[in-house]
Amino acid sequence: MIPISKPFIGEAEKQAVLEVMDSGMIAQGPRTAKFEERFAQVCGVKHAVATSSGTTALHIALLAHEIGPGDEVITTPFTFIASVNSILYVGARPVFVDIDPETFNLNPALIEAAITSRTKAILPVHLYGYPCDMTALQAVASKYGLKIIEDACQAVGATYYGQATGSFGTGAFSLYATKNVMAGEGGMITTDDDDVADKCRMLRNHGMRRRYHHDMLGFNFRMTDLCAAIGLAQLDRLADFTAKRRANAAFFNAGIESLITPQVKEGYGHVWHQYTIRINHQRDRDAAVRQLTEAGIGTGVFYPVPAHRQEYVREIVGEVSVPVAERLAREVISLPVHPQLSQADLNTIVNEVNKL
Ligand SMILES: Cc1ncc(COP(=O)(O)O)c(C=O)c1O
Repeated sequence: MIPISKPFIGEAEKQAVLEVMDSGMIAQGPRTAKFEERFAQVCGVKHAVATSSGTTALHIALLAHEIGPGDEVITTPFTFIASVNSILYVGARPVFVDIDPETFNLNPALIEAAITSRTKAILPVHLYGYPCDMTALQAVASKYGLKIIEDACQAVGATYYGQATGSFGTGAFSLYATKNVMAGEGGMITTDDDDVADKCRMLRNHGMRRRYHHDMLGFNFRMTDLCAAIGLAQLDRLADFTAKRRANAAFFNAGIESLITPQVKEGYGHVWHQYTIRINHQRDRDAAVRQLTEAGIGTGVFYPVPAHRQEYVREIVGEVSVPVAERLAREVISLPVHPQLSQADLNTIVNEVNKL
């Protein structure tokens, strides 16, 4: 079976973990600080704050921007549920805006109509590693005085006209085991804002600046040095990983016929966390998934049920009109695109997909 994802664990990762073990400093310590420094450099921002996951990064990023009960946050329904849960954790209301069928991301042209006096922020998701249209998002955000909290969980290393995702507002990244850069579990908040960074550091560690003096209600959302050591070793490989993902995606785009393959607009530095094709809605996506599985190809459907259709979310937001997201939820199939695919794997994938 060619797996849909495969974490790369090399000698550097193993050695780095052993060194942390030998150091006796397992919890958040010097490796986490180093990882934050390096991550901030990669994103071209002043601060990176490490957390226990992408979900906790989003959660405290929203809190640091003082988003809470009574506030509305505009986001996409076509995302991993953590984007929406983070809005619910802080007591705010998600407002779903439909997506663009080409990019799978928030359609900026539809945002203005969703803005009310309660709207505080836009939470765009750079889904599959494809950056959102940040020019359009920034224009609408600045017109209405809204914050931008980027869910860059799938988009480490991605760029929009040369600028890194996660650097347009406050960014949140995931370092979960299958992500383009992983730490087993983990997250990172990126920002140029000193005050937001300071609040995030406090929120992740029980509101502490001075030991056992708690200035606010915080959490234990810390990263361990074991995870940070893995993440640091992975960051060294980011350029190589991204180049391989891009080459794999280019090979698929050249070889796959008669299905809707993902196209990248000029200026968008896609990092191919997922390579996602669309099966025309008149055909049976689930049958295509079965056929590929039988041919030994792992696939993923990200995501079969859009967020507004999850029962507990529907109870809050009611009926929502997002026809493009609904259609794509029925049409998408992600294929393996990770850096560990061999040329033989790539050929098999193209041949089998062309038989669909
Ligand atoms: C778009 C998106 N948002 C948020 C998350 C949450 O990240 P984590 O799994 O690290 O909590 C993920 C990761 O799966 C994601 O893909």
